[in-house]
Amino acid sequence: MRYMTSEEIREAFLRFFEKKGHKILPSASLIPDDPQLLFTVAGMVPFKPIFWGKVEPVYTRIATCQKCLRTVDIENVGKTPRHHTFFEMLGNFSFGDYFKEEAIEWAWEFLTQVLGVPEEKLWVSVYEEDEEAFRIWNEKIGLPERKILRMGKEDNFWGPAGPTGPCGPDTEIFYDTGYSEGCPDGEECTPANSEGRFVEIWNLVFTEYYQDEKGELHPLSRKNIDTGAGLERFCAMMQGVYSNFDTDLFKPIIERIEDLTSAVYKTDEKKDISIRVIADHIRAITFLISEGIFPSNEGRGYVLRRIIRRAMRHGILLGMNEPFLYKIVDAVVNKMGKIYPEIVQGEKMVKEVLSAEESRFLRTLEQGMRVFDELAEQKGKIESQDAFKLYDTYGLPLELTLEIAKEKGVEIDVKDFDKYMAEQQKKSRLATGNVEFAKRYDYLDELPTSFRVKFTGYEKLEDESEVVLIAKEGRTVEEAYEKDVAEVIFSVTPFYAEKGGQVADTGVAEWKNGKGFVEYVFEASEGIVVHRIKILEGKLRKGEKVILKVDKKRREATMRNHTATHLLHAALRRILGPHVRQAGSLVAPERLRFDFTHYKSLSKEEIMQIENLVNEWIMEAIPVEVRYTSYEEAVKSGVIALFTEKYGDVVRVVEVPGVSKELCGGTHVRNTGQIGLFKILSEESVSSGVRRIEAVTGFEILKLVRDYEFIISHLKEILGSKEDEIVDRVLNLKKKVKELEKKLSQGKISEETVSERRLEDGIRVYYGIFDEVDVRHLGGIADNILKKNRGIVVLFSRFENKVSLVVKVSDELTDKYNASTIARNIAKLLGGSGGGRKNFAQAGGKRPEMIKTVLEQLEDLLR
Ligand code: ALA
Repeated sequence: MRYMTSEEIREAFLRFFEKKGHKILPSASLIPDDPQLLFTVAGMVPFKPIFWGKVEPVYTRIATCQKCLRTVDIENVGKTPRHHTFFEMLGNFSFGDYFKEEAIEWAWEFLTQVLGVPEEKLWVSVYEEDEEAFRIWNEKIGLPERKILRMGKEDNFWGPAGPTGPCGPDTEIFYDTGYSEGCPDGEECTPANSEGRFVEIWNLVFTEYYQDEKGELHPLSRKNIDTGAGLERFCAMMQGVYSNFDTDLFKPIIERIEDLTSAVYKTDEKKDISIRVIADHIRAITFLISEGIFPSNEGRGYVLRRIIRRAMRHGILLGMNEPFLYKIVDAVVNKMGKIYPEIVQGEKMVKEVLSAEESRFLRTLEQGMRVFDELAEQKGKIESQDAFKLYDTYGLPLELTLEIAKEKGVEIDVKDFDKYMAEQQKKSRLATGNVEFAKRYDYLDELPTSFRVKFTGYEKLEDESEVVLIAKEGRTVEEAYEKDVAEVIFSVTPFYAEKGGQVADTGVAEWKNGKGFVEYVFEASEGIVVHRIKILEGKLRKGEKVILKVDKKRREATMRNHTATHLLHAALRRILGPHVRQAGSLVAPERLRFDFTHYKSLSKEEIMQIENLVNEWIMEAIPVEVRYTSYEEAVKSGVIALFTEKYGDVVRVVEVPGVSKELCGGTHVRNTGQIGLFKILSEESVSSGVRRIEAVTGFEILKLVRDYEFIISHLKEILGSKEDEIVDRVLNLKKKVKELEKKLSQGKISEETVSERRLEDGIRVYYGIFDEVDVRHLGGIADNILKKNRGIVVLFSRFENKVSLVVKVSDELTDKYNASTIARNIAKLLGGSGGGRKNFAQAGGKRPEMIKTVLEQLEDLLR
């Protein structure tokens, strides 16, 4: 075996399968287009619908090197030589094309011929009932029986990725590292009894079934191949090292960590764990953020936050007490950027987001650790409420508290942690619903625990119902009267409670002899919908039958905006790239607001392209499909658990076929055509890496057009121009104003603004009246006039209660006309005084109204 770098192995794999007729595709996103999964957990994930038979393949043979992320085993990362969060999976796939025989033969050929792995180093396992696979290995490949282990479903059956989907029996290939540690005494060491020695390097799945919600298997129409080989493990094998962390993929990262922390790898086993955790996690962090995932408290953002915080804590164990992870990002980008250009493009953003998150967490973490020590010392152990306090107040995730406890040998019991968590979530839901309500939700405890309000608002905007509970100022009451504002819970409601960015419905409640206005609706806790109602007429009693009517116009406008939000999201991803993720949204009847991850402002062209695309989808009038998917199946992966936490056991999928597919509980139009039209109003920055778009649809656009129409007709009137001349006209006016301002400031008022008179002796007098022009400018204007002419200049500037003036006389005329005398004479009339030289003088007065008189008597005053 010759040493091969990770780059060489990737390349060799893809070229090998290309020669076998495979189309080579670049890695798909880490974020799958699949509501069942938070992350791409295997090379096959992007092709799940093809394996499943839902989508026809364009190519029946594909090979990829796919970036993947798994967090199921995150606790083991760092402690073992081969556990990772982020990793790369090499895989070849057949969609109804070749099957077991070729898959096995080619895997063997690649390993033994291309990589040159000695045959004696390879072992395999097959599914115990798969005679065919056994025979291929034994007869075609010639592997001795003792090296083909038969194992059960636990070991040799793979999939589905997610709760349902394609799966099948598999065969696994193991590499014998030769390390004898952990091998049993007295019997042959095999992959079945020594995990330490044998490394599973390649899994070939014969994907011929799909598993339904109940866990039952059904044959697929096509037989497929899905294989997966961990690039990191191939590297370890080809580089003759036992641990993935000793390969070229991790070396530069570990070196960088050593530089930053002054720790030396392989000198202290405890520190080594921390170094490996950081080396692993920084890859996951870099890739996740560059795909637009930002740390947050739910979904993918929460997984990222957990990974960052875990890495930071290990940094602290290495003595770091300031942000440093962001400084390792370089090393990842240098090593992987050629293969994954998205991390080069996202580098700046990754560093910014990461260092901000590090600073934030450091502040609380240190405090949290201190509190942990105090609690541990006081009570001798950590209990659920302590762990919850550490989480809630100090941001210490439960996993971290558990790890710290283990490390410090402190007894810990967290079986009630979930209870505290649920309690807190209930409170925070209320708090975010409506603050004034938060104080007074205790009455909800009077409802039977199993009680849930039936929501019928997806199908109906009007429904019959019954009053279950009425509360006023936090206490239940039997009746509410005219002018009361009461919180009412009904058995059934068509009212949508504020949720998922969509605002609450408003409307009316009617009953015998009474009526109320429903002004706000919120979900106090899962399934408990509370209506805030102002009683307009009559009295409302517990048990009363009511008709609930949602404000139809308002709701329909909201639905247009909600579906438009999904279209906008899809358009952003197509036009700007797949790194775009939703970072928040508001869906109201008047407008929609959408926050998303993107690193720079949008150009005019991009905005236009996005508007065009969304409007194309609207005009195609695509029916919107809503589906429910069940998640009752317990899911192995912790990742999915996050999903169920957020969305309940059953998730609702809203799909605009061919355009968008999202998990969403909101209300939508039945057909994109109902949106009418879509227009972006603004695009701006919210915070680093997050942009915000505000847009309108439907009647709001009509309103917008009418507003513009109004403005234009006014402009037409004011300017006296036709519509298509307005712009030119305004531009001309602006130009003129500018010119005038310029002239004024430079004292270049031209002769036009100055009048001229001839005296009896033929001498010319130039005179003019200005408003509020500085006297220095008057002087400049006078100079200008006399540069081109011979004569006398008299210029006035009027202010509110005063007047200034300058007099200038051409030098050749000063024998006959004296500027100083003239100024003094005029000043007398203006109620002031003045003086100067023979050729130039200034004056001021308090009676601007006398300027007219001065001009009438000008000839006399000059003498
Ligand atoms: N999809 C298979 C795996 O992930 C190849 O192991």
